[in-house]
Amino acid sequence: MNKPKVYICQKVSTKIETYIAQYCDCEMWQASGTVPESILYEKVKDVDGLLLSGIAITERLLNQAPKLKAVSNISVGYNNFDIKAMKNHGVIGTNTKGSLDDTVADLIFALILSSARRITQMDRFIRDGLWQADHDNIPLGKDVHHATIGIIGMGRIGELVAKRAKLGFGMNVLYHNRNRKPEVEKNLGAIYATKQKLLLQSDFVVLTAPLTEETYHMIDYKAFEMMKDDAFFINGSRGQLVNEADLIIALETHMIGGAGLDVFECEPIEADNPLLSFSNVVAVPHIGSATEKTRFKMAMQAAENLVAAMTGKTPNDIVAELRH
Ligand code: 8YV
Repeated sequence: MNKPKVYICQKVSTKIETYIAQYCDCEMWQASGTVPESILYEKVKDVDGLLLSGIAITERLLNQAPKLKAVSNISVGYNNFDIKAMKNHGVIGTNTKGSLDDTVADLIFALILSSARRITQMDRFIRDGLWQADHDNIPLGKDVHHATIGIIGMGRIGELVAKRAKLGFGMNVLYHNRNRKPEVEKNLGAIYATKQKLLLQSDFVVLTAPLTEETYHMIDYKAFEMMKDDAFFINGSRGQLVNEADLIIALETHMIGGAGLDVFECEPIEADNPLLSFSNVVAVPHIGSATEKTRFKMAMQAAENLVAAMTGKTPNDIVAELRH
């Protein structure tokens, strides 16, 4: 019997390719980055499965892919899936739930610490030869320990940020979420707050909510206006949760103390993006999950989901909206 055909839209390690090749007839994009759209649209005409990270799965793409049964995302976020179109075409989609939570929580904490303690700014300062013997020209930072952190989105990552905040830094933890999390309240003393209360009271406002229709631009001018003028805004989820033009205004007018950003409305951002002109902004290129160990784990989990779907089994991580 012929093996199912899959296309891997970015280079994955030989171990992962070899694993998939045991069960599937697979072809992989060999150059760096992800497969260009024009090539993908040709490849999908004849495949049963796709392995990819973040490529938009649209009605237009699905119309080109009569045999397609499953799309395996090498990521947790699946805002690249057009759920309605996938349902219409009977295509299942999987993510890599649980693969990166601690790694992203670490990065969020790195952003909190480096923005509050001006790590990247002071690194540039010393390299620019500005360190003087009297220390007088060194701008001061903000304490993280015992400050109030407000976490918007108390999912797995939010909870791990809360754990680091409470147990590592003695912080006062506020959170806002679609539903209350009694176990986080009990175990970590986290306090549920309305979005407004959280924005008004937090020294660090941290976004860990997924991108959905409800969360799109949930942080806008009004939200920044509510924040303390020395609050730091940290985004470790998706750039589209924030109205970036409003964030720029908030920074320009000193409505907030600074920002730590792993994600942006339109990625990748250019070097002349206005956000990079602020000394109180720490920006990194969507590296939340970018450690050797975690990226391997994500790719393997995605490969297992794909193989399961291709061999008639139910993959572990079918995304909620596409589960029957
Ligand atoms: C991914 C992410 O690694 O998994 C997610 O949802 O945001 C990232 O950590 C990234 O999208 C892959 O490029």
